[in-house]
Amino acid sequence: MVKNDRGGFGSKFGMMMTVAGSAVGLGNIWRFPFLAGENGGAAFIIIYLSLVLVIGIPLVLSEFSIGTAAKAGAILSYKKLAPKTKWHYNGYLTEVTGYLLLGFYCVVAGWTLRFFYESVAVGFDGQSATQIKESFEGFTSTWWQSTLAGLIFVAMCAYVVIRGIEKGIEKWNKFLMPLLFASLIFLCINSMTLDGWEKGMEFMFSPDWSEVTGQTIIDALGQVFFTLSLGMGVMITYSSYSKGDDNMVKSKVTVSVIDTSVAILSGIAIFPAVFSIEGLQPTQGPELVFLTLPSVFANLSYGWIVAILFFFMLSIAALTSAISIMEMLVTLFIERYGITRRRATFIIVAIMAVLTLLCALSSEIFNLFDMLTANYLMPIGALLIALFVGFAMDKKLRYNTFTSNGKYSRWIYPIFLFIVRYVAPLAIVIIILNGVGLI
Ligand code: PHE
Repeated sequence: MVKNDRGGFGSKFGMMMTVAGSAVGLGNIWRFPFLAGENGGAAFIIIYLSLVLVIGIPLVLSEFSIGTAAKAGAILSYKKLAPKTKWHYNGYLTEVTGYLLLGFYCVVAGWTLRFFYESVAVGFDGQSATQIKESFEGFTSTWWQSTLAGLIFVAMCAYVVIRGIEKGIEKWNKFLMPLLFASLIFLCINSMTLDGWEKGMEFMFSPDWSEVTGQTIIDALGQVFFTLSLGMGVMITYSSYSKGDDNMVKSKVTVSVIDTSVAILSGIAIFPAVFSIEGLQPTQGPELVFLTLPSVFANLSYGWIVAILFFFMLSIAALTSAISIMEMLVTLFIERYGITRRRATFIIVAIMAVLTLLCALSSEIFNLFDMLTANYLMPIGALLIALFVGFAMDKKLRYNTFTSNGKYSRWIYPIFLFIVRYVAPLAIVIIILNGVGLI
């Protein structure tokens, strides 16, 4: 197949926004603040940042090395790079992970859309915390409402993915990601004017090490995988559409810095707001964004503008991430059956409709998908990817891909190799064993 058949990114900026669009998602704005809130704030953030640097970035580079070298999706890549081996089974594993993660992600994204709609159409002004809670719980427990919101979200993703990489995915990411950054900066500036600014800053930036336990480190590492879209072949897929001529290390470090900055800035936007209302604490877990924040917005002057911007930003973040997972699945279908992108997208939408319905119907299934993907399947996928790049990939090809044919980042290559061969696998094995309760 000639390269042009698959299409590809039109510009470096577009590709960077698209990869950042995958990384920046509900993980940054919903998951990161509540994990930091539950794990003592600053100490969690410092551990998380160190893990991004030591393990996250090398793993992003591993996925990019595979996709850039093979120019194929998450299964065919292994078949091309390691023919007649069983490595491509990791591709099947990441495919399953993609469906499960997207199933539960679409449901949460549906809530986000619903909150965006509510903040525009009704607003939270004058609503008490109990009213907000009742309305949220009423919504999430009415299966058809959650399903409908999730399906609208799936349709939005499909609208973009069906148009292909350059004309769909890249075009929309180039447009939406700057809007997300602008909204976030506005929200951070607004945060500075709130009564809770100092308390919020202290919570985020003065570490209390007494709160740190083994679990804190495990949670931080799980968050690194989730937020950098690792262990699912999404980065393999996107990199397969690159022209492969840029400075890979520099551009992926930039994406990781953008992703981390969005997480920290989301904390800056959220924590001072929470502390500015008597009696609210940032430790409520997953409900932080959907229950605590609307109560904050209901009490702020101009809270309605803040609410609209916040849920707009959250919807964009969810959309650009879910698009990346859908694209990974669509690429697999195109390559497996030789069908058109259009047909592949319709098939994925049908499968997603069923999975979204299941996650909306049953909170057990929802929690199972969340737990299975974040705690087991993504770490196992990432472990196999690290081992593949570390030990199985052709040495010369690996070096040439990583250094863009010897042009860049040669000095860092041995460090990268050491991490993907030993440090990352060891760390991942520790999280998995902890997850199953063995350590
Ligand atoms: N990185 C996304 C987020 O932070 C989630 C995601 C995981 C997207 C895996 C793609 C693949 O929300």
